[in-house]
Amino acid sequence: MSQAIRLGILGAGWPGRKHAEGAKASGGYKLAAVADLIPARRQEVMSILGTAREMDDAADVIRDKAVDAVCIALPNHLHVELACAALRAGKHVLIEKPPAINAREARRIAAAAEKSGKVVLYAFQRRFGPTEQAANAAIARGYTGEVYHARAAWLRTRGIPVGTGWFFRKQQSGGGAMIDIGVHLLDLAWWLMGKPKPISVFAATHSKFAAASPDPAAYDVDDSAFALLRFENGRSLELAASWALNQPPQQQGTTCRLFGERGCVDVYTPDGAVIHRQFNPQGQSQSTALKPPRLVGHAALMRHFRECILGKAKPLIGPADGVAIMEMIDAIYRSAETGKSVSL
Ligand SMILES: NC(=O)c1ccc[n+]([C@@H]2O[C@H](COP(=O)([O-])OP(=O)(O)OC[C@H]3O[C@@H](n4cnc5c(N)ncnc54)[C@H](O)[C@@H]3O)[C@@H](O)[C@H]2O)c1
Repeated sequence: MSQAIRLGILGAGWPGRKHAEGAKASGGYKLAAVADLIPARRQEVMSILGTAREMDDAADVIRDKAVDAVCIALPNHLHVELACAALRAGKHVLIEKPPAINAREARRIAAAAEKSGKVVLYAFQRRFGPTEQAANAAIARGYTGEVYHARAAWLRTRGIPVGTGWFFRKQQSGGGAMIDIGVHLLDLAWWLMGKPKPISVFAATHSKFAAASPDPAAYDVDDSAFALLRFENGRSLELAASWALNQPPQQQGTTCRLFGERGCVDVYTPDGAVIHRQFNPQGQSQSTALKPPRLVGHAALMRHFRECILGKAKPLIGPADGVAIMEMIDAIYRSAETGKSVSL
């Protein structure tokens, strides 16, 4: 492989552009090809990372021998086929969240990764965020003791994604708020808890805001979803996600709190991640803001992808995590549909 990794970007919306920015900031990449059905979007990626071969169809980049690695930033239902084709063609793959539209598809990606020996990394960039990494370091050092419960939410008051029209069509997206934004907080909280084995899930979803979507007749997904996940050793996670909810806009945003035997970490505060420890009998504690690392976000994600390709690191969010996350998402939707707790 030449020194710079020859990168193909498949899908040039917001996430495709973020990967181009991340690759530029991390260094060690050359944009070889960009595919999108919208020419102006291809131009935007090239304005960030340099000129490249331009294609309409993402499948053409997979056939391009002068591409070492691809970022798949396409609608959810296209992840599985393109990821498997790229792996068969000997390319390393960075895949946007959610890993796929269900666990079956995530398992297909895992099998293709195993067969090819190439890197699969999922772009859950929150694991590379400043407050999130600071929280992880504190928990890993044992400052909270075992985290036995977490509360994670991403609640939007009004924020049904428009994109190019697929987000609210279940066949193309796999679901609504939970698979779209809940999945970020699920991945984050599960990772910060040390990736415990899930045992069961109980969930409810609601679909109340079709009229606020660009195509009410086609809208068939959840706009809010609430779940309780139980893990081995009695550990638990409350997870909530909404694209739309009748709450004041100042109440929207992300929450991720991890409750341990000796302390608690609050990931999203105006001061960044904060740890609360040394609780007295009245519940008062010492609160300390946690220091984030220097390289964060998409730059850190793309540097990590490069290190994995060069054999210097193992994917932080690899094929097995993709399967585990999609199994939890599937269980959330199954529980909501049946009204029953689902065992995993
Ligand atoms: N990590 C994050 O924070 C984050 C944020 C937004 C979206 N995403 C994920 O990124 C993916 C894309 O989302 P988006 O917001 O860019 O959606 P979007 O609808 O805005 O863009 C999708 C793009 O894919 C292109 N496209 C579709 N089929 C194609 C094909 N066969 N060949 C080439 N191009 C094709 C479209 O032209 C469009 O520009 C989804 O999986 C989404 O969940 C992740």
